[in-house]
Amino acid sequence: MILKIIFSFTIFMSVALVGSSEDAIKEEDGVLVLNEKNFDAAIGTNKYLLVEFYAPWCGHCNALAPEYVKVAKELAKKNSAIKLAKIDGTTEPILVVKHGVQGYPTIKFFKENITIDYNGGRTAGEMLAWLEKKMGPPVTQLDSISDAQKFIDSANMSIIGFFKDASSDAAIAYETAAVSRIDVDAIPCGKASDAAILASFNVESDSIILFKKPDDAKVVHRGPFTVDEIDRFVRNNRLPLISEFTHETAGEIFNSDVKNFVLLFVNKTNEVEFNALIKEMKTSAKKFNGKAIYVFVDSSYDENERVLEFFGLKKEDCPVIRLIDLKDDMLKYKPSFTDITEANINALVQGVLDGTIKPHFMSQEVPEDWNKKAVKVLVGKNFNQVARDKTKTVLVEFYAPWCGHCKKLEPVWDKLGAEYQKQANIVIAKMDSTANEVEGVNVHSYPTIMLFPADSDEIIEYEGERNLEGFKKFLDSGGKIQKKKEPAVKEEL
Ligand SMILES: *[C@@H]1O[C@H](CO)[C@@H](O)[C@H](O)[C@H]1NC(C)=O
Ligand SMILES: *[C@@H]1O[C@H](CO)[C@@H](O)[C@H](O)[C@H]1NC(C)=O
Ligand SMILES: *[C@@H]1O[C@H](CO)[C@@H](O)[C@H](O)[C@H]1NC(C)=O
Repeated sequence: MILKIIFSFTIFMSVALVGSSEDAIKEEDGVLVLNEKNFDAAIGTNKYLLVEFYAPWCGHCNALAPEYVKVAKELAKKNSAIKLAKIDGTTEPILVVKHGVQGYPTIKFFKENITIDYNGGRTAGEMLAWLEKKMGPPVTQLDSISDAQKFIDSANMSIIGFFKDASSDAAIAYETAAVSRIDVDAIPCGKASDAAILASFNVESDSIILFKKPDDAKVVHRGPFTVDEIDRFVRNNRLPLISEFTHETAGEIFNSDVKNFVLLFVNKTNEVEFNALIKEMKTSAKKFNGKAIYVFVDSSYDENERVLEFFGLKKEDCPVIRLIDLKDDMLKYKPSFTDITEANINALVQGVLDGTIKPHFMSQEVPEDWNKKAVKVLVGKNFNQVARDKTKTVLVEFYAPWCGHCKKLEPVWDKLGAEYQKQANIVIAKMDSTANEVEGVNVHSYPTIMLFPADSDEIIEYEGERNLEGFKKFLDSGGKIQKKKEPAVKEEL
């Protein structure tokens, strides 16, 4: 008992000591050094706080450090209310988790009670400019019809919040969304409350309208007006009627709650044809605004070859349309038409939305010698008959011809096939997943190895080490034993 009290006391003392030494906020070169204990106090006493999460081993962080100090000194010189702070993420895991930090450096601006993710440049000048912009009003007040029209004309995409009462909860939520969620550099935000302006835009009840000037289109949000809903509205509608698929735009294109995508694979350098097809796509896109996202993939651009391959397409096949649905698994739809017209596209999209058009699964023809060797060759067309044969346990490697890890696996796989060749109830097989797809089997990386046990509808993915011994244990145990310790290295699709 006494021991326990002494023990508790020592813990209490040490906690108290740590507490008192870390509560005071240290500064290094004008930058506050924060930790879990003093973080809340720092936010409480500084209305505007820019916080960098860094790691000592992170090169970009080290490069940023002198610029960060410059910003702190520049702001101090101007008597700015903005303070700079830093947090060593490696010693502050709780703060890292709490603030959703995924990588270093991550910078967040705590502006009163709003948190804004920093997305500006890494030089002192760029950081100062970003801060200045964020300190200004995020939403431009529009007081006349001509102001509003000029505002819309000044950018390809813009938003105006029309609220009868500028101090209503809805209007405040809109301003908060503009500060904390909307990239107002890309999409400037305005607001209007004047009755004459509202009337000229046919606004009868509170509305947020997104204007897309190049498409001469607008999308109206009539509520609910919470920060999350407004953010969702902007994310789901901010794409132009038709976007080009590139490395840079991919994230934005797929960061939407709309999960149907109409993809046009087209040679962009063939201008006449390109423009004509885009016109057909745009008209259809207007009709399905909010239901499907329209994208084109330039087939003349070599880096898109993988994307074409993913759809089983070659440059010569273009122009061609595909539709994908990313709701659960990825489902692909192939039109029955070859003539890309607005009416045909509309019918395809409507059919997919209604569920009257079935997804398309690619398949090569079954090779004549598919079962001549120890490792059986599967394609879409013979997959179910072989792999889903209830009398057999079937282990399938899903590969891509270009995948290095698959090439390395090939001799092992052949050996495995040879070892089980005599066992009639076990089949070792492989399928080229770039040319063949099977309903219910989702391959997201290469190689993927799956077991289809006899007498079962189960599919067991193999995630152990890719060697003969591992595979044999896995097979002999009916898929029950696999060493999952080290995640296997895979190549992304
Ligand atoms: C910030 O806090 C103040 C005071 O509590 C409150 O009036 C204001 O609405 C808050 N702002 C946001 C955007 O939550
Ligand atoms: C509008 O978009 C066009 C085409 O992408 C671009 O060239 C132009 O600079 C944009 N205008 C503004 C004001 O951003
Ligand atoms: C794309 O079109 C251009 C212009 O018509 C042509 O020169 C080029 O060969 C085409 N590229 C492909 C891959 O078809």
